[in-house]
Amino acid sequence: SKVIYIGSAGREYAVDAAVGDTVMAAAVKNGVPGIVAECGGNCSCATCHVWVSEEFAPIVGPPNDMEEDLLDMAVSERRSTSRLACQIRITKALDGLTVEIPPEQP
Ligand code: FES
Repeated sequence: SKVIYIGSAGREYAVDAAVGDTVMAAAVKNGVPGIVAECGGNCSCATCHVWVSEEFAPIVGPPNDMEEDLLDMAVSERRSTSRLACQIRITKALDGLTVEIPPEQP
């Protein structure tokens, strides 16, 4: 499935992501900058925060309980479409998924 990451400077990165990978892992594997993923996908760092495009937000769904608390601690503004990229698993239905990378993720 294709995942499109939009960097904070407006640059787009289109990645061919394997079904079953997370949105975080696909970014790291393909060298997409801005998704730091300090904790390696354990849902404990919030440096993989992304804003899911409005169009895909209903398919991706809301954050899980563990994510909820972390999103409140994320460095960048929390929006209604905020998710942690390590908690989004890529499926065929998510082909074309577009996520925005917030400007600061230390
Ligand atoms: Fe750390 Fe997602 S990689 S919370």
